[in-house]
Amino acid sequence: MKIDGTAFRSIWIDETDRWSVRIIDQTKLPWAIEMPRFTTLDQVAHAISAMLVRGAPLIGATAAYGVALAMRADPSDASLDAAIETLAATRPTAINLRWALARMQSVLHDHPKAERAEAAYGEAAAICDEDVATNRAIGRHGLKLIETRARAGRRVNILTHCNAGWIATVDWGTALAPIYMAHDAGIDVHVFVDETRPRNQGASLTAWELGKHGVAHTVIADNAGGHLMQRGAVDMAIVGTDRVTSAGDVANKIGTYLKALAARDNGVPFYVALPSSTIDWAIADGLSDIPIEERAATEVTTVTGRALDGSIATVRVVPKDSNAANPAFDVTPARLVSGLITERGICAANAHALAAMFPEHAQRR
Ligand code: MRU
Repeated sequence: MKIDGTAFRSIWIDETDRWSVRIIDQTKLPWAIEMPRFTTLDQVAHAISAMLVRGAPLIGATAAYGVALAMRADPSDASLDAAIETLAATRPTAINLRWALARMQSVLHDHPKAERAEAAYGEAAAICDEDVATNRAIGRHGLKLIETRARAGRRVNILTHCNAGWIATVDWGTALAPIYMAHDAGIDVHVFVDETRPRNQGASLTAWELGKHGVAHTVIADNAGGHLMQRGAVDMAIVGTDRVTSAGDVANKIGTYLKALAARDNGVPFYVALPSSTIDWAIADGLSDIPIEERAATEVTTVTGRALDGSIATVRVVPKDSNAANPAFDVTPARLVSGLITERGICAANAHALAAMFPEHAQRR
C-alpha cells in the first residue's frame, strides 16, 4: 500500500544492508512515520512484545525475520532453539507467531549450519510474499460480499474493530483487503472504525490507513456500534482474528464479541477474515483453549495522543488508586459468525465447513 505516493510493505529488508530488517513503528502512528532498522534478535523480540509491530500475520512474519537475524549471528542448533523460545514468549494469543516459528524450525533443521542464515532469510521472505498473495485472495473473496450489497450504486457501510489492515499484515490486510478492493473498484464504501481502547488501534491505525487510501470512514467510540446497528446504519461487519479454532471459534481484539452479539441481535452479517495460518487445528473450544493475553494495566489507565502544542503526551485517565485489568482479546463463539473469509473462499464457521475447505489440515488431526 502507499504512504504519500510511495509503495510500502509493513516489513522489508533494508536497501543498503541485506541482513537488516525495517518496519514501520506502529506505536508512533498516526503522529509520525518512523522506520527503525533491526539487526538483532532482541530488537525484534522487543518490537513484537512492545507492539511496534502487531497484528497476527505481521507478528508471524516479523518473528521469522527474528530467527533469520539470530541465524546470521550464530547458526548453531542451540541458537536456533533459543531464538524460537525467545520469540514464542513475546505474545501468546496470535497463532501465526507459533505457525511461523514452527515453519522456520522445520526448514532450518534440514540445512547444514553454513547455509542456515541464507535459508532463514529466504524462508522469511517467502512467508512475507505468501502473506501478500493470501491477503489479495481474501480481498477478492470478500469483495463479492460487498458487491452484492452495493447494487444500484448504494453506499455500503461496514463496521470493523481494531486494525486488520495492511499494517497488521505484510500488505493489503485481512478485514480491510475486501474494503480496499471495493474502493478501488469504484464501489461507494464507508467504514465505521471502532476506536478500540485501550490501545486505540482503530482510531490510530485503521483510520490512518483508510485515510491514506482515500476510503471514507468515521471513527466511533467502542460502545457506539450497537446503537448504529439498531438504527440500520451498518450493512455488515468484517473483523480480523488472532486465532480460529478447528470448530470456528474466533479470538480477536477485546470487544469483538460484543460487536458480534449486537450484530446477531440486529440481523447484521458478521464476517471474520483470516489467512489459513490463523487456524489452530489442534484445538476446538475457543473459550477454554485459546490463551488470552493480559497486558499492562497502564494501557487502560492512560491514553496517549498529540497535545494541542504538537507534542506527544501520555495522560492518566483513571484515579491513581483504582485497579485496572487489561485482557487484550476475547473469543466470539462460532455460532455468532456469519462466515469466514479465507484465501480459498468463504465458508461457514464450523468444523465441517473448515475441514471441507482445508482437507489437508483436517486429515492430520
Ligand atoms: O493486539 P493487536 O493489535 O496485535 O491485535 C490485533 C488484532 O486483534 C487483529 O484484529 C488481528 O491480529 C488480525 S490482523 C490481520
